[in-house]
Amino acid sequence: MTDKMQQTTIGFIGAGNMAGAIARGLIKCGHPKERIIMSNRSPEKLTALANELGIKTTLDNQSVCTAANVVLLAVKPQMMREALANIDFASVDCVISVAAGLATDSLAAYTHHQVEVIRSMPNTPSIEMCGATGLYAKPETQDRYGHFANYVFGAVGEYQWVEDEALMDTVTALAGSSPAYFFRFMETLISAGIAQGMPEQAARNLVVQSALGAATLIKNHPDIAISERRKQVTSPNGTTAAALDSLEQSGIAAMADKAVKAAVKRGKELSQS
Ligand SMILES: NC(=O)c1ccc[n+]([C@@H]2O[C@H](COP(=O)([O-])OP(=O)(O)OC[C@H]3O[C@@H](n4cnc5c(N)ncnc54)[C@H](OP(=O)(O)O)[C@@H]3O)[C@@H](O)[C@H]2O)c1
Repeated sequence: MTDKMQQTTIGFIGAGNMAGAIARGLIKCGHPKERIIMSNRSPEKLTALANELGIKTTLDNQSVCTAANVVLLAVKPQMMREALANIDFASVDCVISVAAGLATDSLAAYTHHQVEVIRSMPNTPSIEMCGATGLYAKPETQDRYGHFANYVFGAVGEYQWVEDEALMDTVTALAGSSPAYFFRFMETLISAGIAQGMPEQAARNLVVQSALGAATLIKNHPDIAISERRKQVTSPNGTTAAALDSLEQSGIAAMADKAVKAAVKRGKELSQS
């Protein structure tokens, strides 16, 4: 499958942060640079990416859709309709949108109902090839073209398909937005360490490496439940137990539940506007 995928020409409309991250990931995974073509509204980012990655670039969105088998739509949601207004998708197998909040029905309309549509929601760790991407397509589209999305998002991390498009707002809450929750928690831990007299850089090193280590332990041993891991490092009456008791008393579970509900609600509002 990978050999066949490497024969695929992958196009991007929009050459911003997300397009650059995905193109880098694809090339690192062995996708030929000659088989990536990217367009943008203005030339600066294209020049930089052409110099860095050796990909083909153009200012003409139609040229991307003429050359590519699969096209990633990587402009901001509010720019999508305009970017695709006069494009002929007849020779494209499928498009994959990375635009937050744009439903597949809207994307089908913007692409003049000419092409199969996959919706994705990647997150910023994709830049470091450890992204988490949610994917949705109508079942027949997923069956026929889902492998394109698996190949693309497998190059920048892990992906998860959802069967109900309404769950894409939850994907946003759990993956798209969640790096910021972890950043915030790390910030608060570092500040708490500094308040105890720890130099800032030392507090940062300890907290960041612990976050990475905790995630790595969980990820590398999927057979061990997260709650089991937590119990393993929590001696009765020990320091971890004291801190966890304090977090529970402060309502950590309710806080997370409220935060996810707030993100889902905002995602729905943004989609509707
Ligand atoms: N960054 C993230 O963490 C993230 C996560 C999940 C999803 N997304 C989604 O990814 C998409 C892109 O986000 P981003 O952060 O990569 O944004 P970005 O850096 O602003 O990139 C958007 C690019 O689209 C270009 N563009 C605008 N109108 C165009 C047109 N008519 N034709 C061709 N190119 C056009 C812009 O060109 P100029 O250089 O001329 O401005 C810009 O380079 C968004 O829909 C966003 O919702 C982003």
